[in-house]
Amino acid sequence: MKQEIKPVHGMWASRWVFILAATGSAVGLGNIWRFPYITGENGGGAFVLLYLLCIAVVGIPIMAAEVMLGRKGGLSPINSMRKVAADSKVTQRWAGIGYLGALSAFLILSFYSAVASWALYYAWEAVRGVFEGITATQSEAHFNDMLANPGLLLGYHTLFMVLTMVVVARGVKGGLEKAVQILMPLLFVLLLVLVGYAATTPGFKEGISFLFAFDFSKLTGKAIIVAVGQAFFTLSLGMGAIMAYGAYMPKTVKDKKTGRSRPVSIMSTVAIIALLDTLVALGAGVAMFPLLFSNGLEVSQGPGMMFVTLPLAFGQMPGGLLFGSLFFVLVVCAAWSSSISLGEPVVAWLVERGLKRPMAALVVGLGAWLLGVGSVLSFNVWKDHTFLVGTFFDNMEFLSTTVMLPLGGLLIAIFAGWVMKETQARKELAMQNFKLYLVWRALVRIFSPVAVIALFVYSIWATFA
Ligand code: PFF
Ligand code: NA
Repeated sequence: MKQEIKPVHGMWASRWVFILAATGSAVGLGNIWRFPYITGENGGGAFVLLYLLCIAVVGIPIMAAEVMLGRKGGLSPINSMRKVAADSKVTQRWAGIGYLGALSAFLILSFYSAVASWALYYAWEAVRGVFEGITATQSEAHFNDMLANPGLLLGYHTLFMVLTMVVVARGVKGGLEKAVQILMPLLFVLLLVLVGYAATTPGFKEGISFLFAFDFSKLTGKAIIVAVGQAFFTLSLGMGAIMAYGAYMPKTVKDKKTGRSRPVSIMSTVAIIALLDTLVALGAGVAMFPLLFSNGLEVSQGPGMMFVTLPLAFGQMPGGLLFGSLFFVLVVCAAWSSSISLGEPVVAWLVERGLKRPMAALVVGLGAWLLGVGSVLSFNVWKDHTFLVGTFFDNMEFLSTTVMLPLGGLLIAIFAGWVMKETQARKELAMQNFKLYLVWRALVRIFSPVAVIALFVYSIWATFA
């Protein structure tokens, strides 16, 4: 007899709700804050092209693999991996993917909250009208003043972590989908408003050509691994967030015409999520780079980019007070739905180990908060304490995003392509188009692992040669 797994953590109501939740996870600070600033630091066009390629040929197939593994396992990533490994009669060591993911989630959550707290503060500042008529120099000074104030930042970091963990403690199902359904389209509209404004500024042409002129001589070894890491980060891959959400995805859907149930296709679902995520990232880039050139600001100014440029736009455009306030509130919401998905895999695992959900959320939240204090202080008290790649914050960001996520993704691809029973993968993916299935299989077996390894090796070689 086949045993049905019982959904301990609940199920999404439909495929559509899964898409909303996974889009909520994907779209966040990675698109609006991180993508523009690392693009600026890594020379623009060629970096963007490489990033887009990574999304298409590495990100999408691995995302499908994660959803497939999660749905097959039906549990937290650690236990889903255990279960799928047992079903395929291979060693339980593959659960290590889940443990690595849990560690990545924890590290990312810590600095993610630190940055989200800047957006939280900026939402408040926007409402107060602080950005009205602001100049470039004032905007930079405003950002630096905020960073120099650890007490203020700690307060907002605490608030953001509490917001995140309250939702995770109550179970991520209820409410999240409704929120995402309203907030994401609004975010799109506001990005369009910003792009419209950017188009009226004198630096528009220069901004666009910085983003889309492919000058490969600018591509350094480090830029290459950063692009790979960003592809994973922005799609929430390589650490089990999408696997955890995949576990709550229904296996079948009622066909509207025939009334019979048919399997839910994973591939088309994943393509929609990746497309939406990419649109938001490119929109943010198109909105911000023209402002840099129009105002004589540095393209490689780092993590402050969105916080320095956008107030300039809101300070000058008609209706800027309303748009600016709304925009920063939406950024906070986008970051919120992402950080929830960072907490969920670890909390779900603790719940399976017998902890009550609120207790599990408290433990994870406290731990990530404490680690996050290191990131908060990296911009003031510990600014000059640098080691390895930079400050404590720089190291957290680099280690988790650029090293651990691609490593996790690589292991997931190898597991899905080589280790797991082929028939199981095919059945779970339930693709109607067999040719497309073969493409997916070739990508996760050969192309994605080879690409990740080759880009890694090449960038290390290019850095040290
Ligand atoms: N994808 C999110 C973003 O782009 O902001 C960040 C993220 C969320 C990364 C969840 C990883 C994750 F598991
Ligand atoms: Na993203």
